Amino acid sequence: MTRYSMDFYDEHPKTCARTDFWGQVRRTVNGRPVDEQQIEMIVDAVCHGLELNPRDRLLDLCCGNGALTTRFLSRCAGGLGVDRSPALISVAHEFFQRDPHETYHLDDVLDFAGSMTAPAAFDKAVCYGSFQYLPADKAGALLATLRRRFGQVQRLYLGNLPDRELLGEFYRERDYEPGIEDDPGSAIGIWRTRDELTELAALSGWEVEFRKMPEPFYAAHYRYEAILCPR
Ligand SMILES: C[S@@+](CC[C@H](N)C(=O)[O-])C[C@H]1O[C@@H](n2cnc3c(N)ncnc32)[C@H](O)[C@@H]1O
Repeated sequence: MTRYSMDFYDEHPKTCARTDFWGQVRRTVNGRPVDEQQIEMIVDAVCHGLELNPRDRLLDLCCGNGALTTRFLSRCAGGLGVDRSPALISVAHEFFQRDPHETYHLDDVLDFAGSMTAPAAFDKAVCYGSFQYLPADKAGALLATLRRRFGQVQRLYLGNLPDRELLGEFYRERDYEPGIEDDPGSAIGIWRTRDELTELAALSGWEVEFRKMPEPFYAAHYRYEAILCPR
């Protein structure tokens, strides 16, 4: 199995050019960065899903190098990205940080959510292409901590989640290793059904609405989007 150690997103970006923003977060198809239309599809889906408006302050959990975050923040009043990869946060600081509208912070998302001193500063939150890499207990703890401490957050967008119901189809022509779907350290992370995500979210008082990306989106055939609101 291709194992991605917890350091993958610190080591891999160092093998990419400093401005290869999509390569650094593996937003690639056949090894090439996805095109601008694909990126705009993501930004539109997240901004619509969050009902992001010019007064909102946004928290981006697992923001990577900030290349998506900066586009979300350009559509609202600003906010903060958090990621635990020093390599990716250093790119965010160099290319995207614009105090005080747009800031990037190096931390584990659960540690951050549990200790951040001004959680009421955020109206919306997003975790794009990353929730599946959190170990299951940490994913549950993050949802619970957000619900408990971030009382102002009206919408939380979990994007690009691998759909367990489509696992068989995805691996029909690929090598499948039993158990890979439950491994947060695998290339794709943990695959969940909609029911599993609904149950996980309900444990901490969130309800979930599901969406699919438009057909031309490169990952639409095996992933879904989830929008969580306080119950
Ligand atoms: C595929 S990248 C996505 C980055 C960004 N959201 C994007 O879509 O471009 C996954 C990110 O999750 C981050 N990550 C994984 N576990 C984390 C954790 N426990 N705390 C903070 N960041 C984490 C990694 O460092 C990496 O930047």
